[in-house]
Amino acid sequence: MMVSVFVGASVDGFIARKNDDLDFLPEGGGEPHGYDEFIASVDALVIGRKTFEKVLTFGTWPYGDKRVVVLSSRPLDLSAAAGGVVEQMAGSPVEIVKRLADSGACHLYVDGGITIQDFLRAGLIQRLIITRVPVLIGDGVPLFGALPCDIRLRHVSTRHYPSGLVQSEYHVDD
Ligand SMILES: NC(=O)c1ccc[n+]([C@@H]2O[C@H](COP(=O)([O-])OP(=O)(O)OC[C@H]3O[C@@H](n4cnc5c(N)ncnc54)[C@H](OP(=O)(O)O)[C@@H]3O)[C@@H](O)[C@H]2O)c1
Repeated sequence: MMVSVFVGASVDGFIARKNDDLDFLPEGGGEPHGYDEFIASVDALVIGRKTFEKVLTFGTWPYGDKRVVVLSSRPLDLSAAAGGVVEQMAGSPVEIVKRLADSGACHLYVDGGITIQDFLRAGLIQRLIITRVPVLIGDGVPLFGALPCDIRLRHVSTRHYPSGLVQSEYHVDD
């Protein structure tokens, strides 16, 4: 199983404002920077409940018929994701990855700050693709958080784009 993160963040490391506003990210996702190719390569998304709730405010479901697993410990109304292929799971990150592997998934896309941090702490993320947006917002929803021990990364590549996006790919060292 390959588990990847593909996320946009301010240079000071936030993925949303405290009120979940994403207005500091480039409109419409900005210039092409590999998202379409990346999402085509995944078998399923695993997103936190707060990311799910934010995505529902977009008006149209952005993931097409890609399998989306929403993590939450509370009852959710998945019918709000009209047109999507959505299911709910809860449990430890290890249990969730095992269930998805058993169902045939080979490449997962984990998204949402708390969710990414939990999967990192559990040692389940192999690849991080982080696109830095050239802005400082001072405060917000952090991409990273506390860790019980260092996670060593191997830098794979860094690309920069005319609009100022800087995208780095890292692999987590074994
Ligand atoms: N810039 C970007 O590329 C990007 C990407 C993704 C998200 N975002 C933004 O980030 C914000 C959301 O991130 P966030 O850190 O606040 O939260 P999040 O990770 O999206 O969601 C956290 C919630 O997910 C549920 N959850 C996570 N792991 C679980 C598990 N193993 N079992 C059961 N439930 C689990 C819990 O929901 P319950 O409390 O219901 O149990 C938890 O409170 C939104 O504003 C979103 O728009 C930005």
